[in-house]
Amino acid sequence: MSQRIYEAHPLENRVVIAGYGEPKSWTLDVFEKKLGGYKAARGAVKAEPDSLITTVKDAGLRGLGGAGFPAGVKWSFIPKNPTKPVYLVCNADEGEPGTFKDRQIMEHLPHRLIEGMICAASAIGSKTAYIYVRYELRLARERLEQAIEEAYKAGYLGENIFGSSRSLDITVHPGAGAYICGEETGLIESLEGDRGQPRLKPPFPAISGLFGGPTIVNNVETLAHVPGILNNGPEWFVKLGNGTPRGAGTKLLCVSGDVKRPGFYEIPLGLPLNSLLNDICGGPLEGRKFKACYPGGSSSPLLRADEFDTPMDFDSLAAKKTMMGSGAVIVIDDSRSIPEMAMRTARFYAHESCGQCVPCREGTKWVSKMLKRLTMGQGSFSDIDKIKSACNNMAGKTICVLSDACAMPVVSMLEKFRPEFEAIAKPDDEVQPALPKISGQMAALMSLVRERQTQK
Ligand SMILES: Cc1cc2nc3c(=O)[nH]c(=O)nc-3n(C[C@H](O)[C@H](O)[C@H](O)COP(=O)(O)O)c2cc1C
Ligand code: SF4
Repeated sequence: MSQRIYEAHPLENRVVIAGYGEPKSWTLDVFEKKLGGYKAARGAVKAEPDSLITTVKDAGLRGLGGAGFPAGVKWSFIPKNPTKPVYLVCNADEGEPGTFKDRQIMEHLPHRLIEGMICAASAIGSKTAYIYVRYELRLARERLEQAIEEAYKAGYLGENIFGSSRSLDITVHPGAGAYICGEETGLIESLEGDRGQPRLKPPFPAISGLFGGPTIVNNVETLAHVPGILNNGPEWFVKLGNGTPRGAGTKLLCVSGDVKRPGFYEIPLGLPLNSLLNDICGGPLEGRKFKACYPGGSSSPLLRADEFDTPMDFDSLAAKKTMMGSGAVIVIDDSRSIPEMAMRTARFYAHESCGQCVPCREGTKWVSKMLKRLTMGQGSFSDIDKIKSACNNMAGKTICVLSDACAMPVVSMLEKFRPEFEAIAKPDDEVQPALPKISGQMAALMSLVRERQTQK
């Protein structure tokens, strides 16, 4: 049986998962007495909301669920005198393929998330919060429920928390089992009891979100960072990363695929990908070479092995036309076929599209089918360009970015590994066309319909 390794690698810096591996780290007793928990929350409930927002803004804390939007800036969008209740929603859906970081916080340090939520709720003036947890994460939900119960008993949740004038209720809500329920407005729809279909923005949730009230949706890791920032100050947080406010702090990365030591690691922002994969994760498997990786989950464009000197921070990854995303590094070695990876990636998004937008509903399926034809040896050279053109028509044209999330990695594979696609493609005259030829009968019927329409 494999043994869980709790010790941090020397290149790691455990901040958001400090105390991970401590026996019973999920209990209030250990969290408070051994790990110094709830100090920030005690101060936050008595602090001026604006000062909390300013501290988080100055720290440069970015949203760590995917988009990287600065947390303090998002909080500042909540109207000053709201006419409806303000909601705080923790996004714990953790649906991006390759991502398994939030569950570590929820299973091992649930009180750190609760403390972060008390701080965030104090900053935005919310009395009601939800944690929307991916349904399959049963242990995480159990540990959160237990921790919330302990916090209520201790007077850290409910009315007049820590003896202050503030109150906060937190409810754990099991997810509905769809990737799209992780998109913040799809999540809100799902929380309201409807089908998890994203909403058109604007209005953004900070203006009109859950039950029409101003709502902040933040990822688990984002919220769990807040107590550390309030305890130690924004400069401390900036220095943890690459030393710039845009690359502040640490990031939990989940490494999976073709490496010797897959797992989750908390690294300072700016650590080169090479260092993560070779020094921390032990390099490629015996006899293999790295070929590429998705640096930020299955939605992120691929980096080739010769680009692994890229520092793992938001701006450096953006400069390479990819992204930090959810922090899921999926490693691909030279035993894998890139067209096969592209096909599986597109198939996932085709399965998960909620179907509201035509470019997404049709595009993801079309791209996945054409890639399937190629991998089965039934695709042509012109299919390669057709796939790229379909992807270009899917990005930036839909209600949410699931459509882009399918298009972006596929385009990067076509651009960076085109010879692999060409090696399995056939000349156009040797394969069936991508769309079946219209039969004679069908063509006659269609021209009849067209004729009737012009007569009208
Ligand atoms: C299709 C899709 C799925 C998403 N899934 C998740 C998820 O599982 N967890 C998450 O935190 N954010 C997810 N996001 C991002 C959220 O929409 C939102 O940006 C995030 O919860 C905001 O929190 P943050 O600012 O703290 O990152 C997803 C986005 C999209 C488009
Ligand atoms: S882009 Fe896709 S998943 Fe997002 S709303 Fe449109 S159809 Fe649904």
